[in-house]
Amino acid sequence: MILPIIETERLIIREILPQDEQDFFELDSDPKVHKFLGKNPVKDVLQIKLVIEFVRKQYIENGIGRWAVVEKKNNEFIGWAGLKLVKDLTNNHINFYDLGYRLKQKHWGKGFATEASREVLKFGFENMKLKKIFAATESANSASNHVLEKLGFNLIEQYMEDNRLHNWFKIENT
Ligand SMILES: CC(C)(COP(=O)(O)OP(=O)(O)OC[C@H]1O[C@@H](n2cnc3c(N)ncnc32)[C@H](O)[C@@H]1OP(=O)(O)O)[C@@H](O)C(=O)NCCC(=O)NCCS
Repeated sequence: MILPIIETERLIIREILPQDEQDFFELDSDPKVHKFLGKNPVKDVLQIKLVIEFVRKQYIENGIGRWAVVEKKNNEFIGWAGLKLVKDLTNNHINFYDLGYRLKQKHWGKGFATEASREVLKFGFENMKLKKIFAATESANSASNHVLEKLGFNLIEQYMEDNRLHNWFKIENT
């Protein structure tokens, strides 16, 4: 284990593991989940195997990556949330920390993304000593915009990516 395990009231936040493959596939093969993610849901479980390997490589190389979000009451992998060191140029930024989250549809609307992200931000600011964290959403993704606002992010600007309008958010450790 490289990353610590974090507990919230209802969730366990832990490393993404190879055994999460089937649940992860359920998440990413759902077209509704991908509505604001380029509308290209995963078709093959092999793609997920590669994603899990990629994320685990980030844990080693960057010391951080997206975490699995698990519901405490039944130990179900319900999705992921976490920080990623983005090394590709995005909205004129490079080498920045980005907050992201993605949950299975049946778990939307229960406050889980906000609950998990609060602890992720705390980890970023307190343990990693980050000064600022960014997040990007498709502008039409109202639920995600709302999560970021609830977390205290500020909408900085809008930009185009892949022909879709995006919102660019920032939160600073004050
Ligand atoms: C975005 C996502 C993670 C939100 O997860 P969640 O656990 O449902 O989020 P929360 O319950 O913590 O908060 C959602 C908030 O948005 C609100 N909301 C939900 N749908 C909304 C909509 N269509 N319009 C406006 N507000 C909306 C909810 O009411 C809630 O606010 P409230 O607590 O004030 O009532 C989830 O919808 C998801 O996984 N979507 C697919 C993947 C994705 O788009 N990821 C984000 C990419 S940037």
